[in-house]
Amino acid sequence: MAGRIPSDFIDSLMARVDIVDIIDRRVPLTRKGKEYQACCPFHEEKTPSFTVSPSKQFYHCFGCGAHGTAVGFLMDYANLSFVEAVEELAEGVGMPVPREESGPAPPPGESPGQLLGIVEEASHWFQQQLRRHPDAGKAIDYLKGRGLDGQTCAAFGVGFAPDGWDGLTSALGGNDTRRTQLLKAGLLSRKEGDGGAAPRLYDRFRGRIIFPIEDHRGRVVAFGGRILGDGEPKYLNSPETPLFHKGAELYGLHRARRAIGQAGRSLVVEGYMDVISLAQFGVDNAVATLGTATTRTHLQRLFRLAPEIVFCFDGDRAGRDAAWKAMQVAMAEMQDGRQLGFLFLPQGEDPDTIVRGEGPDAFQQRVAEALPLDRFLFDTLSAQVDMSRMDGKARLVSLARPLIESMPESALRQLMRDRLSSLTGVRGESIGPADAGPRPGRRANRGAASTGQLSLMATAISLLLQHPKAASGLARPELIEEMRLQGGDHLRRVYKRAVANPDITTARLVEGFRDSDVYEYIERLASHDHQVQDGSVARVLDDTLARLEDLQNEERRAMLLEKSRAQPLAADEKDELRSLLDRKRNRLEAR
Ligand code: UTP
Ligand code: MN
Repeated sequence: MAGRIPSDFIDSLMARVDIVDIIDRRVPLTRKGKEYQACCPFHEEKTPSFTVSPSKQFYHCFGCGAHGTAVGFLMDYANLSFVEAVEELAEGVGMPVPREESGPAPPPGESPGQLLGIVEEASHWFQQQLRRHPDAGKAIDYLKGRGLDGQTCAAFGVGFAPDGWDGLTSALGGNDTRRTQLLKAGLLSRKEGDGGAAPRLYDRFRGRIIFPIEDHRGRVVAFGGRILGDGEPKYLNSPETPLFHKGAELYGLHRARRAIGQAGRSLVVEGYMDVISLAQFGVDNAVATLGTATTRTHLQRLFRLAPEIVFCFDGDRAGRDAAWKAMQVAMAEMQDGRQLGFLFLPQGEDPDTIVRGEGPDAFQQRVAEALPLDRFLFDTLSAQVDMSRMDGKARLVSLARPLIESMPESALRQLMRDRLSSLTGVRGESIGPADAGPRPGRRANRGAASTGQLSLMATAISLLLQHPKAASGLARPELIEEMRLQGGDHLRRVYKRAVANPDITTARLVEGFRDSDVYEYIERLASHDHQVQDGSVARVLDDTLARLEDLQNEERRAMLLEKSRAQPLAADEKDELRSLLDRKRNRLEAR
C-alpha cells in the first residue's frame, strides 16, 4: 500500500490551488462583490445561496449549510475519498503526490504511474487483436453467440488475447525494463528455468476474451480473461499488483457512477458478463465484485454515489452465503438514509440470462422487489432456529443482537431492535444498550451551527480561522500562549500558524486539522457566520480573549479557594490567589 500523504504537502497544495477555479469548472460561478455565487449543487434551490470566498478559499451554502475547502468540495461533489480528492487537485496543478516511506521505494520504471502506461498499451493491443488477429473470427463468433453487440464491446474495451506464449511479450516487451513492467503489472507469468537455466517469461492471458478492469478513476489497471467456450479456469484475472487491489475496485464502477447517482441505487452483481449485458439493455448502474467477497471499501465507494445498494446473487447456497457475508460487512455502514436490498435469482440464472430472457423492465421489477435488509436478516436467522420454543427465540436474540449492534446508531437500528423484541418477546432494553444519542454522519452534520451562539473559545478560534491576518495585530497575544481552558490547544495551533504565515488562507488552516478528531468541528467554525464587520474583527478578537482570560482566572480562583479549604496552600499558590482576588476587585471597581 502507498504511504500517507505528508501534511506539509497538503499545505503547499492548498496554497497552490484556487477553490474558485476548482468549483467554477463544475458549477459555474458568478462574481458578487468579493465573493462568487451559484445555485447550491448540494440542495435544490432557485436563488443562489452557495458562496465561494477566494480570500478564505472556502465555500459555504447559506441554504443547506454545506461548507468546506476545495478538498471537501471534491469529496462531496465528485464523491471522492480524501486521497482521491488530493490526487485530483495535485494533478490539476501538476504536483506529484509524495507518500511517506512505507517500505522500500519501487525501483525505477516500476512506480504505479509508470505501470499505468504499459497496462494502457496492453489494453489497446488486446483490442487491436480483436480486429486484426487471424484468429479474431473465433473470438467475435463467441461474443456474438453471447449476444453482445459491437457497440457494447467497444464501450467496455473488450479485447482478445490470441493463443501463443509471447504475443504480448514480443509486441510490448521491447527491453528488460518493459518486460519487468509487464511482469509487475501482472501481464506476464514467470517460469523458473530447469537446472540453472534462465527463468522464462510468457503471456499470462492466452486464447481468451479480455475485459479491461478500470479503477474508480477510469484508468485501466488490470484484466479479466474468459476462455472461449468451455474449459478451466473459466476466468483468469490479473493478480494483485501495485495498481490493482481486488478488495478496493469494482468492475464497471467508473462507467456506472453517473447512472448510479441518477438511479439513486447501485446494483452489485457477480460477473463481468452480467455488467456488460445489463448495460447493453440500458441498465447502467451495475458493478461486479472481481471474484472476491464484498469489502467495506467496495461498500463505501458505492454509498458515496447513492444511498441504496442492491446485491444480485444466485439463489443457491453459495449465493445466499455470499449475500450473508456482504450483509455482515455492510452493517457498520448503515447510517440513516441508507438502504440494502438482496435479490436472489432462480436456480441457474444470472443477471445476464435474466435480462436477455425477460428484458430490462422485468429485471428492474425484480430489483424493485429485492428483500430489504431487515427481512433478509430476520428471515434467514428465523429459519435457523425453532421459533415455537422459548430457547429457540432466545437463540434468535443471541444471533441477531451482535449484528444489529454493529450498526451505527440510527432509526433503522432502533426499528430492527423493536422487530427483534416483537418476534421474541424479549423487551427492548434487554436487546440494545441505552442510546448514547445520534452520531450524525458528515452530511447530517451540516447546517448545524452556521449561525447562532458559539462559546467564547469557539468564537476566538473561529475568528482566527476566518481572519488569519488578525493574528499578528492582537493587543495581548500572550493570552493565547497562557490559555489553559479547554480548546486552548486548538486556539494556539491556529494562532501559531497564522502568525508565522500572514498570507495563509482559512482553507489551509482547516486542512491542517484533517487528521484530528476535531476536524469537522474546525470546518464548521470556519464557516460560522459571525455577523462581524471586517473592520471590527481585531477588536472583537481582543475582547473575546480578554473574556476568556476572566473565565480562566475565575476557574483558577475557584480551584485555589476550594483547595485552601482542604489544606494550607503553598506560598506561591497563596500569592497567585491573592493576585487573582486583587484583579477581581480592580475589575469590579473599574465598572
Ligand atoms: P460466474 O461463473 O458466475 O461467471 O462467475 P459469469 O459472469 O456468469 O460467466 P459467464 O456468463 O459464464 O461468462 C462470476 C465471476 O466470478 C469470477 C469472475 O469475476 C466472474 O465474472 N470468476 C469465475 C473467476 O474469477 N474465475 C472463474 O474461474 C470463474
Ligand atoms: Mn453468466
